[in-house]
Amino acid sequence: MQTMLVTGGAGFIGSNFVRYVLEQHTDTTVVVYDKLTYAGRMENLVDVAENFAGRYHFMQGDICDAPAVNAALDQFGIDTIVNFAAETHVDRSILDPDAFMRTDVYGTYVLLEAAQKHGGLRYHQVSTDEVYGHIHGDHRSLETDCMAPRSPYAASKAGGDHLVNAYHITYGLPITISRGANNIGPYQYPEKVVPLFVTNALNDMHLPVYGDGGQQRDYQYVQDHCAGIDMVLRRGVIGESYNVGTGKEMTNLRMVEILLDELGKPASLIRHVEDRAGHDRRYCMNVDKLLALGWEPEYTHEEAIRATVRWYVANPWWWEPIRSGEFKEYYQRVYGQRKTLSTPAA
Ligand code: NAD
Ligand code: TYD
Repeated sequence: MQTMLVTGGAGFIGSNFVRYVLEQHTDTTVVVYDKLTYAGRMENLVDVAENFAGRYHFMQGDICDAPAVNAALDQFGIDTIVNFAAETHVDRSILDPDAFMRTDVYGTYVLLEAAQKHGGLRYHQVSTDEVYGHIHGDHRSLETDCMAPRSPYAASKAGGDHLVNAYHITYGLPITISRGANNIGPYQYPEKVVPLFVTNALNDMHLPVYGDGGQQRDYQYVQDHCAGIDMVLRRGVIGESYNVGTGKEMTNLRMVEILLDELGKPASLIRHVEDRAGHDRRYCMNVDKLLALGWEPEYTHEEAIRATVRWYVANPWWWEPIRSGEFKEYYQRVYGQRKTLSTPAA
């Protein structure tokens, strides 16, 4: 029997992870602890609440609120914490970094302290390849590489990772860290590039490609990431970090080409716009350490992009209300004044 607190479990990856764990492990009970920010949505867990009523619980709360976190650990007899809770969008971190520092750094500290005070609970931190910063040449980031974050988001996540390692070294807290690549799939808030572009294209709106679109990303299907985290939780060596990705990379323009092809929409929707400040050109990780535990990704980039597009086409009930709410104001802030480039930046 395992009783897991999944913080941020109402977000994109967290909700997919909760579904994955409850399906795979019939001896596991999951308690989702989530503040329900703009990115946390109860709709993401509707089927989970129906299908796993006895083994699933939800509690609304902030990971920065130590008494509430401690109360959740006591009430449910938690033995494992998996921390997905974070502010996660780079463009928002450029506009308003404050919430990133509070949740991604201070919130992580509150969870670690609570895990420690409860006798040393098993703790897993969900982190990102962005902590490695922009990767030069053909190097693939190794878990032992120094962190060199460049955006406020990446810096706040790196701060979280440092704290997690410090709690292991100083207090012996049984931790692991996973660093995921760019995830795509069902229930991703349409601020991130793939769901933004799919839902824009479905509305015949332009797709704002930053700069020349030659940036390289590892677009990983969310189920593969969830399976990787589960593998680290069960077979990972305590105190270690694991990269989770396909180990391959693709340009943003190639991603857009596949996305438009799956939708049957024209390339004339593409607009090259002013680049993101400090935009990391390339992320790519070596994933041999996780492969050695017995995990393997199932989806190629192209399969992941096509499956994601099909989900958004089939589920307008999920994204249409989002796009008509807070999102509209956000969109205006990020894209309203953005210059269109007459020729793509070199
Ligand atoms: P998301 O933005 O979709 O969801 C974040 C969730 O955290 C939401 O449910 C939100 O309500 C909750 N939350 C935010 N602040 C909170 C707080 N103070 N207390 C409690 N809950 C809070 O994010 P996501 O894309 O699902 O990412 C989940 C985790 O995975 C994050 O830690 C992120 O850094 C990491 N990650 C994301 C990606 C990606 O491509 N999206 C890749 C690698 C790693
Ligand atoms: P994003 O989904 O924001 O993830 P991250 O910045 O964490 O990698 O962006 C993925 C890539 O897509 C990144 O290179 C920035 C680019 N991008 C655009 O070109 N246009 C957009 O409107 C957005 C949101 C992102």
